[in-house]
Amino acid sequence: MKKWWHDKVAYQIYPKSFYDSNGDGIGDLRGIISKLDYLKELGIDIIWISPVYCSPMVDQGYDISDYYNIDPRFGTMDDMEELLKEAKARNMYILMDLVINHCSDQHEWFKKALEDPEGEYADYFYIREGKGNKPPCNWRSYFGGSVWEKIPNTNKYYLHLFAKEQPDLNWENPKLRHKLYEMINWWLEKGLAGFRIDAIINVKKDLRFEDFPADMEDGLCSIDKMLEAAEGVGDMLYELNEETFKKYDAFTVGEVFNEKEGELHKFIGKDGYFSSMFDFEIETLGKSEKGWYDNKEFTTNELRKAIFNSQLKTMDIGFKANIIENHDEPRGVSHCIKDEECNDNAKKMLGAISIMLRGIPFIYQGQEIGMTNNKFSSIEEIDDISTIDQYKLAIKQGLSEKEAIKIVNKYSRDNARTPFQWDNSDNAGFTTGRPWLVVNKNYESINAASQIEDKDSVFSFYKELIKLRKSEEFKEVIVYGKFRPMLEEYDNIVAFCRELEDKKIMIIANYQNEEQIIKLPEKFKGILLNNYESLEIEKDKVRLQEYEVVILEIY
Ligand code: NOJ
Repeated sequence: MKKWWHDKVAYQIYPKSFYDSNGDGIGDLRGIISKLDYLKELGIDIIWISPVYCSPMVDQGYDISDYYNIDPRFGTMDDMEELLKEAKARNMYILMDLVINHCSDQHEWFKKALEDPEGEYADYFYIREGKGNKPPCNWRSYFGGSVWEKIPNTNKYYLHLFAKEQPDLNWENPKLRHKLYEMINWWLEKGLAGFRIDAIINVKKDLRFEDFPADMEDGLCSIDKMLEAAEGVGDMLYELNEETFKKYDAFTVGEVFNEKEGELHKFIGKDGYFSSMFDFEIETLGKSEKGWYDNKEFTTNELRKAIFNSQLKTMDIGFKANIIENHDEPRGVSHCIKDEECNDNAKKMLGAISIMLRGIPFIYQGQEIGMTNNKFSSIEEIDDISTIDQYKLAIKQGLSEKEAIKIVNKYSRDNARTPFQWDNSDNAGFTTGRPWLVVNKNYESINAASQIEDKDSVFSFYKELIKLRKSEEFKEVIVYGKFRPMLEEYDNIVAFCRELEDKKIMIIANYQNEEQIIKLPEKFKGILLNNYESLEIEKDKVRLQEYEVVILEIY
């Protein structure tokens, strides 16, 4: 059955770094309102806004102290309502971030739980007795160290899978769950189109709270071990959907990393828990369980294989949300293309691959103008809690400060969080004040103002890609067409076909810094898009230049 969101193109805003309307150095809701026309021009329909609820900002808003209010840094509830109204006037849809695995230690529920660790609110969290002088078990938090934090003057500990300021909510407690459903419905009533759902697989814990074999010298074990052992997340997610999203025909995108083998259909199939979930295949390439210091390089053939496998696995089940980056990852172009080759053609090529896949494209702010990783000179310039942990870990593993900062520059989440580069004025036009995080020095050459009018810019190419996706003639095949890998016998060529009945298009990306002649496997009908001026075709042979990408109609 067709759904309203199937043919939409989405965009992620990281509000703190998008546009600052009042000169305090922090992006805000009024800033977003003032840029809606820019997004409309690009062709965006759905906007996901990372958290803007009240928060102490230990983890940039992913630690919520009040789900019903907007943090004053970002504006007011009136601003939020205006944003919803202005988006609607432009036929655009707003998604908020739903962070319900944990809240902030400043949330009133948690404060009450600490005041009375035997009382009603204590059961909103996981509070357990320590084992002698030690925490209840040896799980390692995502941000390093034990998942357990001791409650002063007791032998009790509370559980936090992320930072200690982000206590996990006890989803076993029906009262808590219904409080969350109430809040979700309250927002949906306000006119949200749906949510991006944070860290949701973590809501089900292995309630035995027992040790697993340690996997590092700290004596702790990865939280993944616990997630593998935890059974029954599906019942929780089913109820969540029934009580909330389903009633509103909301669009939901889960941040799901560890679904169990063979369970994809339960998440995004017909009657799945969510509408969609992110495809993290590109982001997880080369990642080591041990930490960033141990990450490996990957080849284009590996990248191709990862994307293709995921497309084939998902095609008959549902729609994944396709990304090349987000606020938790380095910039996609820096992650997937060598620095010295990372020019506009290569950026456009990567964009074409992502936008033409089957699924819902999610563009992360700045991706459409080809923003790159930053060059942080020292750890002092970093704000992100996870980067600081990974930096310390790298040093502990014997890397020098210089080597550790190199790792930070490659993988830090702050790479994607530097302010949006609007123009070539001071602070890239992001703020008239002092930006909360360094602005990437390359803003003079990479910025929106210089690209909007330039028909050869990365921005204009993204616009063309979206236009093609939405064109009357090709919309159906791009949204609903099957995905078929092609030309896999060539190294460094990412090629695939999208086909629906008698409509067929083919995407061929020459993912390397040298030209390549290839034999077309199907008869050529016409060129729909190309990142070079022209394409050399002779009979069934095409000569592709460095990082050339072409989208062809074929018979
Ligand atoms: C995933 C979010 O995207 C990330 O930014 C955050 O740190 C964790 N979940 C915890 O909420």
